[in-house]
Amino acid sequence: MMQSEEIRSRFLAFFEKRGHAIIPSAPLVPLNDPSVLFNTAGMQPLVPYLLGQTHPSGTRLANSQKCVRTQDIEEVGDKTHDTFFEMLGNWSLGDYFKKEAIEWSYTFLTSKEEGLGLDPKRLYVTVFEGDENAPKDTEAFDIWKQFVPENRIYYMSAKSNWWSVGENGPCGPDTEMFYDVTTEGLGDLTKEEYMRADDAQKVVEIWNDVFMQYEKKDGKVIGKLAKANVDTGAGLERVTMVAQNTDNVFATDLFSGLITKINELATQEDVIAKRIIADHIRTSVFMISAGVFPSNTGQGYILRRLLRRAVRYSNVIGMKAGTLSHVAEAVIEKYAPIYHEVVEHKNRIIHEVNQEEIKFHQTLEKGLKEFEKGTDPFILATTYGFPIELTTELAKEKGLTIDLEDFRTKMAEHQKLSQTASAGMFKGGLANHNEKTIRLHTAHHLLLAALQQVLGRDVKQRGSNITEERLRMDFSFDRKMTDDEKKRAEEIVNESIRAGLKVVRREMSRADAEKIGAEMEFGAKYPDTVSIYFIEDVEGNPVSKEFCGGPHVLNTSELGTFKLQKEEASSQGVRRIKATLT
Ligand code: SER
Repeated sequence: MMQSEEIRSRFLAFFEKRGHAIIPSAPLVPLNDPSVLFNTAGMQPLVPYLLGQTHPSGTRLANSQKCVRTQDIEEVGDKTHDTFFEMLGNWSLGDYFKKEAIEWSYTFLTSKEEGLGLDPKRLYVTVFEGDENAPKDTEAFDIWKQFVPENRIYYMSAKSNWWSVGENGPCGPDTEMFYDVTTEGLGDLTKEEYMRADDAQKVVEIWNDVFMQYEKKDGKVIGKLAKANVDTGAGLERVTMVAQNTDNVFATDLFSGLITKINELATQEDVIAKRIIADHIRTSVFMISAGVFPSNTGQGYILRRLLRRAVRYSNVIGMKAGTLSHVAEAVIEKYAPIYHEVVEHKNRIIHEVNQEEIKFHQTLEKGLKEFEKGTDPFILATTYGFPIELTTELAKEKGLTIDLEDFRTKMAEHQKLSQTASAGMFKGGLANHNEKTIRLHTAHHLLLAALQQVLGRDVKQRGSNITEERLRMDFSFDRKMTDDEKKRAEEIVNESIRAGLKVVRREMSRADAEKIGAEMEFGAKYPDTVSIYFIEDVEGNPVSKEFCGGPHVLNTSELGTFKLQKEEASSQGVRRIKATLT
């Protein structure tokens, strides 16, 4: 049986042979795209090129892209949905079009020598039926006719056969390939029968070829792109499933090791719960290795929600507290040969999974009792750590509904209070503009840069307070710093002081400042034009760049000697440093 590793490499080799440059998977968390929290498709990091920019690797590209989609999270547990997946994709940037795209998809799926060797008699295809934006895709239909019987090619509406990444960007009609996963074989199907088979997961979508010729603005198709592109995506989990002759992704080699591990740890039988745990832990491993920490906003919130959902289901099947990290280890083992970052961040992954599990286990049972009593979802969230989505799910299981409006109002009020508190704290440090605090303030910037150099770029400032005597910085990091790390951070700051670096204030647009990666205060809201402080050498190479109102010294030589006084835990995943200048 062909293993997933071979499928991945066969796909890349197939397209490499046909002139495609193999590009690496972009990071799971997009670098310069604030419109999404995670990459959700292989084409996402390629949007600028699909819109016309020249790609350095040429006009034919292929890769396997790590993706996360959580909108179907409640479907996870069925046969085909997962929140993390790899998308195998090939792209033509104004190069080949429908003929080659379709022919190659078909050849890869069915060829025994070069591809998956799937049974052509189990294939069904859909093409676009046309609407006010684009004509009926008879061209794609005619190309498909050479490979698949006409009565297994169905014209479908834009609802299923028009692809776009959101309200803005490249888009176009697509053609989708489905595979019959029943044991008996379905044979010829009318359109209605095919649609019912799709609903029943008797046929599953395995590949989508998008003919990206149009552009959307604010949800409306505004016209044709200068070049006609191809964007294809095949879910590795699903093609592995059909290549391995099974009808569910959890039975493939991508998941089987995780399911075995969960079986060892569980004391109760519940197939769905086991699949959910396997899926959520796998996704969490990739999120953590992409630098995400569990938190209450953005990516961190999605991670927290997945981990807490996994904890809840681990409780259902009688897994002991502290054992989810064993499942994480199984994930790391499976992916170590392909994605080195899971090995690189192993300690942090295990640590985060353990911490989140232990923390939520402590309140889960009590919270569930409170839920039974009808306790307000706001209290469940703030006191027992129940993500609102979890409370909503619990309510749904009981046929109850949650007043989300009321929850949001209470949460907004709650957050406003805590934000004002932290804003006040920050101001408290800087309001005092005497010489000593100004010097400590500049040292504060140097310290953050030094910590990132010693501990990694994903260290972020989480709080700050400056008095005349000392600075205090809270930053995201999940363990005690070693003596050596503390010494190095201190030395780096002192070297910057001795180097006599310039401190320069520049005003720029918030977008530009974000683009150059200036450090921002966590949770703060910034205006359209912002002030950025750069600390840089004579050639203008920045040691530090931060969103900041100032004031600062003009040159770091004014600071004296920097001394790290104390490094301690502040809260979960946050460390606190106190330091002085003498
Ligand atoms: N962008 C399309 C999809 O995600 C094809 O890659 O399905």
